[in-house]
Amino acid sequence: MATLPALKPTANILLHVDYRTSHHVRLLLDDLLGPDRFVNHLIWTYGLGGSSPRSFARKHDDILFYCLDPKKYYFKPPRVPATSRRMKGQTKKATDVIDIPSLNNMAAERTGYPTQKPLALLELLIEACSPPGGTVLDPCCGSGTTLVAAANLGRRPIGCDQSPAAVRTAKRRLALKQTGR
Ligand SMILES: C[S@@+](CC[C@H](N)C(=O)[O-])C[C@H]1O[C@@H](n2cnc3c(N)ncnc32)[C@H](O)[C@@H]1O
Repeated sequence: MATLPALKPTANILLHVDYRTSHHVRLLLDDLLGPDRFVNHLIWTYGLGGSSPRSFARKHDDILFYCLDPKKYYFKPPRVPATSRRMKGQTKKATDVIDIPSLNNMAAERTGYPTQKPLALLELLIEACSPPGGTVLDPCCGSGTTLVAAANLGRRPIGCDQSPAAVRTAKRRLALKQTGR
């Protein structure tokens, strides 16, 4: 089992992957971190997108959630609007299926970066999995959605990306403190 000295025992690792890689990545992480550090296989279901006449329409991505220490990891169960008629207007504990639409072409928060994720998704995950004042690292930050969400929630964002365009976009959004609302 790997030791990751740069991370606190309260830390979590969330890896967003698609259907072509999620099964491979889960086995790799089980080997690297140990299967006892696996917490959730989250489904992000987003609704938008195309369909094929040759398969069920693909409308979700996978997010693998591992902790560093099963006894000490941070988790604050997120609450989402209840959908039943009985609980109308109330909230309920989120499940491992997260229903948040992907960004449409008219979304105010859209930057033009091709793989940009909705701020609402990252805010839900960060609030649940990192403590207030904590540090959030996205080593493949793309348009910087994770970093903006972390800053909005009072966490310290750290990001990097191999693409200079991504770094420019992320820096601009952080400077503007873009909330997307
Ligand atoms: C799926 S996108 C991330 C999207 C981001 N969550 C957003 O909301 O915009 C993946 C990013 O990883 C970056 N990337 C790929 N390989 C990398 C590497 N080895 N080191 C750093 N960044 C990398 C790509 O440039 C791309 O911006």
